[in-house]
Order: sequence, then structure tokens, then C-alpha cells
Amino acid sequence: MRVTIFGTGYVGLVTGACLAHSGNHVVCVDIDEDKIARLTRGEIPIYEPGLETLVHDNVEAGRLRFTTDAAAAIDHGMLQFIAVGTPPDEDGSADLKYVLKVAETIGAHMTDYRLVITKSTVPVGTSDKVREQLAQAISARGASVEFDVASNPEFLKEGAAIDDFMKPDRVVVGVDNERAADHLRALYAPFNRQHDRTMVMDIRSAELTKYAANIMLATKISLMNELSQVADRLDADIEQVRKAIGADHRIGYHFIYPGCGFGGSCFPKDVRALAHTASKIGYETEIINAVERVNNRQKTVLFDKLQAHFDGDLAGKTVALWGLAFKPNTDDMREAPACTLMEALWDAGATVRAFDPEAMDETRRIYGERDDLVLCHDAEEAATDADALVLVTEWHIFRTPDFHELARLMKQPVLVDGRNIYKPSYVAAAGFSYYGIGRSAATGAQRTVG
Ligand code: UDX
Repeated sequence: MRVTIFGTGYVGLVTGACLAHSGNHVVCVDIDEDKIARLTRGEIPIYEPGLETLVHDNVEAGRLRFTTDAAAAIDHGMLQFIAVGTPPDEDGSADLKYVLKVAETIGAHMTDYRLVITKSTVPVGTSDKVREQLAQAISARGASVEFDVASNPEFLKEGAAIDDFMKPDRVVVGVDNERAADHLRALYAPFNRQHDRTMVMDIRSAELTKYAANIMLATKISLMNELSQVADRLDADIEQVRKAIGADHRIGYHFIYPGCGFGGSCFPKDVRALAHTASKIGYETEIINAVERVNNRQKTVLFDKLQAHFDGDLAGKTVALWGLAFKPNTDDMREAPACTLMEALWDAGATVRAFDPEAMDETRRIYGERDDLVLCHDAEEAATDADALVLVTEWHIFRTPDFHELARLMKQPVLVDGRNIYKPSYVAAAGFSYYGIGRSAATGAQRTVG
């Protein structure tokens, strides 16, 4: 099929490359000329395992092209995906100006039938606005062209985006007629394994599904984080609790890892956006608001533990951070707990020595050069002469350090394990003061907070 994708961010680029790989002819369009020039040269603006090769192979095969020429791109694809950004407004609602601008552009140029599919995460009701915008733009030029709109939210995770797209748990398709449903069933047929994974539903339910999925997952995390705070204060070990509750199939082991708060481009934004949508129609969400509040509080937990260890005096201290991205296998630092921690440390007069396998350029881009931030080339360099080490992001390479060597390198052997990846007794045996998340029982009842 011939496919056009507006927006070459995470979702647009992965969708374009994966759809091209299943034999479609895909044109990706973006207004950012520099980005398109770089993509055409094979340079991928984000770090995502496997993406560079996939883009390269499909460009070589002539199935994937990049352009800034919207009119030609609209002419190309019968299927027109909107995958542009929906940055949050001041009040947390999603800003739809880019989505609606694309709809207007498609309406201004299309000369025959187009199926316009929204892939960006958008508030419930957006497809109606896209339909109106298309109709307006078509009638403004005195034309009459048929079109359908559809909602097809994307559930991919950063760091595993290609696998998630190629082997989806489900493909959600929101349509209001069979013609649109048939086009999307055909497009996604290659991604059905063993059984049909395409779930066709009405447009509003499809739009809500995306928020519901993310909020359900974010709720699991916030609930575990809240329980970890309780565990810390009760001298219990949340890791024992996690394993025991996860064994119940109704609860399950996924997404119950306590940590230093969820970040990224989706969870925090989507939690706020749905709360806002509900409030606008007169319904105050309770649990969803609490998910956000608990997460904001959890993001300070690493700093709180450092504060407690150093009796509130972090001025002049040097703190090493391992991991800056909001999670492993990405260079994305949007809403990353590392940002909250670094900023609090700087406010307290501490210096940060940091290392992340992929996010060093991004850190430099966000914070620039500053005296209280030393960007290091590896994990050991970051720990050298530090008063404390904080594991913020659980990258694989941080999993089995030589703790005796680390204790030797550091000024003081203090470790805050923001993801509970280390065994407290093992770390303590190397001379470290160990602080996990909700693990006071496992660390000789070191009650650090409260
Ligand atoms: C998420 C959804 O998983 C995906 O389906 C949706 O399309 C976009 O949002 P992503 O933001 O890439 O994907 O990251 P994810 O792997 O879900 O992790 C989100 C955050 O939750 C990270 O900060 C992670 O560290 C945190 N997390 C996750 C926990 O703290 N504990 C857990 O048990 C799981």
C-alpha cells in the first residue's frame, strides 16, 4: 500500500520504517528540513536499537523516503498517518495545533480519496476535530473529495520500539465505517501472529484505549512506589513483597518495580492529559490525580535519601550519577528522575559527576556547560572521588560493578540504588552504606526517611 506519515519523531519514524519493511511504499514528511536532510543521509536523530539498520535497508530498497514536500506526500499515500507531536499546554492538556495543521494541509491538497489516521496520542474527540478540519479545508477551495478518518494509537515502548511494532499485543483501530476498517486490517495483516490482533472499535473508544493503557501501567508503578515508602517506614523489604504479590496471576510481575518515579514522553503527559480532559467535562478524577502526585513525590526520593545520609548538608559534596535517561536503551531524558535529582543537588550546593551510555549528548544539550556538572566517559570515572553514588537508570552495564574497587575509588562508600538492582548484603560487604527503595529491612533497618 502507499503510505504517508506526517512527523518523524519516535512514533512516525518507527511506524514508517516498520510499514516499509512489510512491503509498503512509505513517504515520511516533516517540516524540519535539517532533520529530513539527516534522515535522507541515513542519520537517525534518536537512539533506538535496530532503527538505523531498518531505516537504512528500507531506504536502499526504495520503499522508504523522507521529504519536506507535503503536497507530494499527500499525493503519494492513500493512507495518511498523523504522527506529529502533541506537547502539553500549561494546564496539562495536549496541544493539538500540529495535528490540526496537518489535517488542514491534507485537506488543502488531496485530490482523491484519503484515509487520515491519527497515530499521535490525542484527547478523546480529536478525530472529530480532524474530520472537521479536513472538511473545511476541502470546501474552502470549492472541492469535493471523499475521505475517512481513523484513530490508530501506538503502544510502542522506547528501547523496544521495533519489536513492539512488529509483534504487537494488539492493534487498535477506531473507525466509523467498514471501508476504513478494511484498509487498516489489510495494512496490519502482516503483523498478526497466529491470530488476528487487530481490534476494530469506534473512534472514541480507540482514543481512550491509549490513555487507559498508559494510566493503568502508571498506576501500578505509583502504587508500588507508595508501598515502597510505607515499607521503608515499617522496616520491611518491598522486594520480598513484590516477589510475593507478583506470583498472584491476577497481579503479575510486570510493572510492579518500585523505583525513583516514572518519566518519559508518555506516562507523565498522558496521566495529566486525561485528568484534564475529565475535569473539563465536569468529572474530577481521584486515582489518576493521585498517580501523578505520588510520582512527583517519588522523584525526590533519591535526593531525600542523600539528604538523610548527610544530615541535610550536601553543600560541597560530590555525587556520582549512573544513568540519566528516563529508562535504559534510550537517550530520552524527558521527565527523567535524573533531572529532578541533579537539579535538587545543584540547589543544595553539590557537584554532580554523571555517566550514561547514550544520554551524554542529550544532557549537554539540556544543561550546557556548568561547573557543578562533570560529564564522565564511563561509570568508574563518574564514581571517582565521589561522596555518594546513585544508580538512577538500570542500564545493563551497571548491573555487576566491582564494589570493592568502587569503594576504593570513591571518597565515601555510599550507594543509593534507585532501582533496587543490587543485593544489599553484597554491597554492604564491600563497606558501602546501602540505600534502596523501600528496603530498610534488607539494609539492617537503616530507616532513612521519616
Ligand atoms: C510507555 C508505554 O509502556 C507504551 O506502551 C506507550 O506507548 C508509551 O509509554 P515508555 O514511555 O517508552 O512506554 O516506557 P516504559 O518502558 O513503559 O517505562 C515508563 C517509565 O516507567 C520509566 O520511567 C520506567 O523506569 C518506569 N517503570 C516501569 C517503573 O518505574 N517501574 C516499572 O515496573 C516499570
